[in-house]
Amino acid sequence: MIEANRIYNEDCLLGMQRIDDASVDVILTDPPYLYLKNQKLDRPFNEQRFFSEAKRVLKPDGFIVLFGRGTSFYRWNTMLADLEFTFKEEIIWNKSYSSSPLMNISRIHETVSIHTKKNGTINKVKIPYLEMKGHDIDAIVTDIKRLKSALKNTKSLDAVLSFLENNKVPMDGDNVLSTSISSVIGTQNRCVAAMRGIQNGMNEKSIIRTDFTYSRNTFKHLLTGNNESAGAGKREINVVQSMVFGYNEKSIIKQGRDHYTTIHPTQKPVRLLERLLALVTKEGDTVLDPFSGSASTAIAAWNTNRNFIGFEIDKEYYNASVERLNKILATTKQQKIAI
Ligand SMILES: C[S@@+](CC[C@H](N)C(=O)[O-])C[C@H]1O[C@@H](n2cnc3c(N)ncnc32)[C@H](O)[C@@H]1O
Repeated sequence: MIEANRIYNEDCLLGMQRIDDASVDVILTDPPYLYLKNQKLDRPFNEQRFFSEAKRVLKPDGFIVLFGRGTSFYRWNTMLADLEFTFKEEIIWNKSYSSSPLMNISRIHETVSIHTKKNGTINKVKIPYLEMKGHDIDAIVTDIKRLKSALKNTKSLDAVLSFLENNKVPMDGDNVLSTSISSVIGTQNRCVAAMRGIQNGMNEKSIIRTDFTYSRNTFKHLLTGNNESAGAGKREINVVQSMVFGYNEKSIIKQGRDHYTTIHPTQKPVRLLERLLALVTKEGDTVLDPFSGSASTAIAAWNTNRNFIGFEIDKEYYNASVERLNKILATTKQQKIAI
């Protein structure tokens, strides 16, 4: 029998045989892409057997979420179609850096395909405003300009705009202080504090209001003074709404690497995997990663209250991944996994 919330040091094709039929909600995995020469992680596996096992262990509304590239990726997607999985979506992971700088075209993305065994539906997921737009200062400036045009008192917004656009903090009168971002952060300027609040969130307060819920109409009312003026200020309202409620997840996800915690050559960022899991799981679901590597999938599942099962054939990667996972389990006072 297979226990949940464990990584097993074994060939996934053997390990998966011990998983019950229709017991797994999602397989999220990044199999060997089979193009790296002389690298131990790129071992060929029996693909036909693997995808048949994947189908057997998944629940009818379960999903397989598959990273890949090139010929093997197209072949795997065709195999899934032949096994009567239903293709749901393709996601591009924009990693912004090239892992193969010697190639003629700098490849800065990886592809992910999402298929359901039968009748799974992708969740509607909201991504916080700054996580979606944080990489794009110009877009944030445009949004603030929109808000500015809707508000009567623009003094504070002018300061925020000036800070974002010119790295300058306006002082009273027209006197403008030119300064570095770090020294701006150090000042007590209220506008900068507001900016910090937008970026980092606010500390919890001693009085928590739960009686006030935001809705589309709330913002129409706040910004236009009445509920009737549909159309007026609509773009500005959309901006405020996206700041408060976030954006629907997009088919291109920009996500940097987990720079300081890399223990595996093809380690995926945990936050990327959390965003993918949010699309296809709910709390309490069981997530399987048969090619577990650094255990990033397990960590993403754990962080978001999902159960995980992992297989990693290589002893060295397995040991490093369990050590990584145990550090995280320790912070949540969970029992460690024995290597
Ligand atoms: C592309 S890497 C996965 C990286 C992982 N997504 C991460 O974020 O760290 C593929 C992993 O599968 C492992 N592997 C290869 N064949 C395997 C098999 N038959 N069973 C289990 N693991 C295998 C390799 O050792 C490698 O660590």
